[in-house]
Amino acid sequence: MRLATLELLRTAYGRYAMGAFNVSNMEQIHGLFRGAARARSPIIVQFTRVIRSYGNPAMLEGMIRAAEGIYPEVDFAVHLDHGDEESCLDAIRSGQYSSVMIDASHFPFEQNVETTRRVVDKAHAAGISVEAELGLLKGIEDDMTVSAQDAIMTDPDQAEEFVRRTDCDSLAVAIGTSHGAYKFSGRQRLHFDRLEEIHKRLAGFPLVLHGGSAVPIREVERINAAGGALDISASGVSEDELIRAIGFGIVKVNIGTDGRLIWTRVHREFFREKPNEFDFMSPGRIYMDAYAEFVAAKCEKLGGAGRTGSRAPASVPAAG
Ligand code: 13P
Repeated sequence: MRLATLELLRTAYGRYAMGAFNVSNMEQIHGLFRGAARARSPIIVQFTRVIRSYGNPAMLEGMIRAAEGIYPEVDFAVHLDHGDEESCLDAIRSGQYSSVMIDASHFPFEQNVETTRRVVDKAHAAGISVEAELGLLKGIEDDMTVSAQDAIMTDPDQAEEFVRRTDCDSLAVAIGTSHGAYKFSGRQRLHFDRLEEIHKRLAGFPLVLHGGSAVPIREVERINAAGGALDISASGVSEDELIRAIGFGIVKVNIGTDGRLIWTRVHREFFREKPNEFDFMSPGRIYMDAYAEFVAAKCEKLGGAGRTGSRAPASVPAAG
């Protein structure tokens, strides 16, 4: 059943985290919905601005409408990830999304506030919610000065002001993660001290963790054993860190890289074992199964398994 993103976030807040899965093709969408059905977990399906221009919004959104009919038992919401102002407005107009992310964090603070506010006004008028971002999703290095780290990570005081002035519904925070397979170097991990400060100022307000892939070393090793050349320093956010973050207001965890790593491993291993084959369906079937298994296990870890049909308890404070 298609639900509003904000309703899913409010239901989960403080109890479990919503897996928000970046998908881009039919096999991933089947795998995602099968995994969610298997775990009986609600999910957020998300398309980036970039994947929309690669695949065509109508094609992607059409696949979601199809999945809604094929997997009626799955509770899900559809979200635009990393939109600019133009793609947010396009997604709002399409009527296919219940939330958009306006990614204006690369602008100076005031410009981020103004841009986000414009998108919030349009989105709220259409009845959909907005995720905004404050801070930069860049890797933190051990040898960075404190002021260089500060320039990247979300400032807790600014976060409070930003939410008040923009009226956004959820906030992506920069606490040391980055996108992709190489998130951490040296002794760096998630900066829980920073997250705790943000949470203190924004108690009850939904926080979002981008760069939530675990980047399992086993996947990286299998890809490399099948002809890949990924750097084995690749590393992601451990599931224990994700679980700990739920207690500090993280309620949506974005996961894209892990799905692409599984895709790469499945296809590399398949064609290594069967060099005479050139059909897409055989590895495609393996990928759908492997991705479904991954999604079900991730939902289980994040605490969403068995929550299909859950609705927000009346006591949960309204966001925004
Ligand atoms: P990963 O690169 O960790 O999968 O993060 C995805 C993401 O944050 C998309 O917005």
